[in-house]
Amino acid sequence: MRIFQTVAEIQKYLLEINELRHTSVGFVPTMGALHDGHLSLIAASKTKTAITVCSIFVNPTQFNDKQDFDKYPIQIDRDLELLLSAGCDVVFVPNVEEIYPNGTLEKTGIDLGFIGKTLDAAHRPGHFEGVLQVVKRLLDIVQPDILFIGQKDYQQCMVLTKLVEHYQLPVQIEICPTLREQDGLAMSSRNARLNAEERIAAVQLSKALFTIKEHIHHADLLALIKEQLETLHQNRLISVEYIVAVNGKTLQTIDSYQENTPITLLIAAKVGDVRLIDNVIVS
Ligand code: PAF
Repeated sequence: MRIFQTVAEIQKYLLEINELRHTSVGFVPTMGALHDGHLSLIAASKTKTAITVCSIFVNPTQFNDKQDFDKYPIQIDRDLELLLSAGCDVVFVPNVEEIYPNGTLEKTGIDLGFIGKTLDAAHRPGHFEGVLQVVKRLLDIVQPDILFIGQKDYQQCMVLTKLVEHYQLPVQIEICPTLREQDGLAMSSRNARLNAEERIAAVQLSKALFTIKEHIHHADLLALIKEQLETLHQNRLISVEYIVAVNGKTLQTIDSYQENTPITLLIAAKVGDVRLIDNVIVS
C-alpha cells in the first residue's frame, strides 16, 4: 500500500500507473476514524476497479460547529492498518495546505436548489458547500473512474451527484448500503464518541425509522412519525433535529404513503453532544 501526503506525489504515481497499465481507479473519500462501513466501500471498489485510492482528510470547511470539528475522532495509525488489511492500494493523507493552497474561501458556488436548503443543509449551514469544495478538489487530484460513497449520508449522495452533473465529470457514482451494528445502529465514525449510556440510547434512532417503515403501509404517516418523535423525546439523552418521510428523489416532505412515490425516512439527532444521522429507504 502506497501512502502519499502531497498532491504532486500522488498525481505523479497515478499518472505513471495509468501510462503503464491504463487501469481503472476507484476512489473512497473519508475523514478517517474508519469502520466497517468504510471498509465495505473499499471492498466494493476492489471488485469494480483495478486500483483503489482512499483519502483521509478531516475537511475543516464542512464543519459549521467548531467543537464538532475539534472533537472529530482521529486515529490515523489504526486507519492505515485497517486499509492495509482491506487491500487498499493507495492512501492520500494531505494536510490543509495541500488541499487548499489558496486558502479555504473559494467555494464551488453550485446552486443545489431545494436539496441545498432542506434537512442537513438547513441544520448545518455551509456544510454541503464545504463537502462540494473538498470533493471537487479531491476528484480533480485523483481523477477516479468510480466514486464510492455510503447511503448513510443520503443527502450528501444527492449533493455529490449534482456536483458530478454540474461539471460533467467523467466519474460514475456508486452508492453502497449502510452497514449497521448488530442492534441496528448505523455505523459512523462519530459512534466512537458515544459513552456507554449514549451508545444504548443511540439505537433508538434506527429503531424509530424501522418502526415507521414497518407500519407505513397501513397507518397514518404523520401520526406514526409523531409517535416515534414522542418516544425519542422521552429519552433525556436524545434531542431530535428532524425525523421525516421524504420523496427519495427530491427530498420534499411526504405526509401520506403513496404507492408509486419513492419514499425515504431520515433522522438527525444529538445523542449527548454527538450528532448522528440515519435513513431508511422504504420504496
Ligand atoms: O462523508 C464524509 O466522510 C465526508 O463528507 C467526505 C465525503 C469524505 C468529504 O469530506
